[in-house]
Amino acid sequence: MDNETLTITDNRTNQNYTIPISHGTIRAMDLRQIKTGPDDFGLMTYDPAFMNTASCQSAITFLDGDKGILRYRGYPIEQLAEHCTFLEVAYLLLNGELPTADELAYWNCDVMRHTMIHENVKKFMDGFHHDAHPMGTLLSTVAALSTFYPDARNISDPKIRRKQIVRLIGKMPTLAAYAYRHRLGLPYIYPDPELSYTKNYMHMLWKRTEPKYEANPVLAHALEVLFILHADHEQNCSTSAMRAVGSSNADPYATTAAAISALWGPLHGGANEEVLRMLGEIGSKDHIPAFIDQVKEGKRKLMGFGHRVYKNYDPRARIIKQVAEEVFEVTGRNPKIDIALELERIALSDDYFIKRKLYPNVDFYSGIIYQAMGFTPDQFTVLFGIPRTVGWLAQWDEMLSDPDKKIARPRQVYTGEEQRDFVPITLRGQRELVEA
Ligand code: SDX
Repeated sequence: MDNETLTITDNRTNQNYTIPISHGTIRAMDLRQIKTGPDDFGLMTYDPAFMNTASCQSAITFLDGDKGILRYRGYPIEQLAEHCTFLEVAYLLLNGELPTADELAYWNCDVMRHTMIHENVKKFMDGFHHDAHPMGTLLSTVAALSTFYPDARNISDPKIRRKQIVRLIGKMPTLAAYAYRHRLGLPYIYPDPELSYTKNYMHMLWKRTEPKYEANPVLAHALEVLFILHADHEQNCSTSAMRAVGSSNADPYATTAAAISALWGPLHGGANEEVLRMLGEIGSKDHIPAFIDQVKEGKRKLMGFGHRVYKNYDPRARIIKQVAEEVFEVTGRNPKIDIALELERIALSDDYFIKRKLYPNVDFYSGIIYQAMGFTPDQFTVLFGIPRTVGWLAQWDEMLSDPDKKIARPRQVYTGEEQRDFVPITLRGQRELVEA
């Protein structure tokens, strides 16, 4: 389309401004020229929670919220979930292309030989209380890794960045498994680099006294698919935290810990744990109408429903529902799935949800599968964080190579007091005296 410009008339001054449009956006800085006089700072945009603000340009993930489309580097998530391993998708997200057989073999080997953690990590992991939430353990130990790899602070060197990326992807399952074993008072199980990424994770979690833990292949495949679905999701809250903290040139371990913290929130990755709590509280199908009433009265949220971008069915939720049936073949049916399916059926026919375009999101069904597989609810967000580490790191790496990269430092609309003079403590609390 030609004439990609916006003409703005400032009615305060009757001045006209022509601002270029590119990729369906205008540069916010182009508004600063719109002033009422030489002392005027110029116009800014006010966009709390960035509802309508692009924070960056990215080539990694594409979402179409209205059509329910999700693509990693152009490939539909449905095809990647059907044909790839998780590390294959991790390679794609980080490098922009699917790996050849040789590239994948080298990549698998590179990641798997970085699954060990320094023995000292166990010492401070043992310091956590027995019932420490694994997300708290994970974010703390990831941040602590920055003290083991001081070279990681040299974030301007792509080779050093790549080394930390491989280390973090390799070590996340080990840290997560050790946190779980610590909770149960079980010995830590060393990683086995001969196993696949997911089978190694299951080995470190669930090996007991048997000579070799054999992960169920159906469950291991289900975990591969779930990890692929959770790997990236453009500029979600935790990825935005990764970009903001990383923009100060902080090291990747401290930056990833910030992203883990954001993910833990119940409105974000913490929702999968809340969904299980909600389904448990509902208890049975006949209690659903009363719960839906509470949601419509604004007293409760339907956890696992709604999304800032998807105003259609989250494509990941659709795939997760299929995975659930495969898992239940092995584990037996988790009765919570029947409550969830009935909850979805009722919600999707109710005007409250239809009007607000509230559909199941990635968190609605994932916890039900995780529980059936033997994970405890407080591990569910950890299961989100392990694969999302790839997306966080791909976005972080892309940001550091972006010519537009600057430290993230938003402006504000100041609504506080105008200048006023100091009040001696003896006169405070007697405002009328001071103002008189
Ligand atoms: C993830 O961003 C990503 O990509 C995230 C993610 C990823 O892969 O990184 O997809 C992962 O975080 C998925 C979302 C998981 N969170 C939940 O399931 C928690 C429940 N969902 C809501 O809290 C909410 O839907 C959000 C946080 C997900 C989105 O919130 P928005 O975009 O700020 O929407 P909103 O709160 O402004 O809601 C709009 C309306 C409001 O009603 P009104 O004020 O117009 O009357 O919809 C209502 C909300 O009250 N609403 C809900 C609801 N979600 C929104 N009402 C009941 N239950 C809900 N879950």
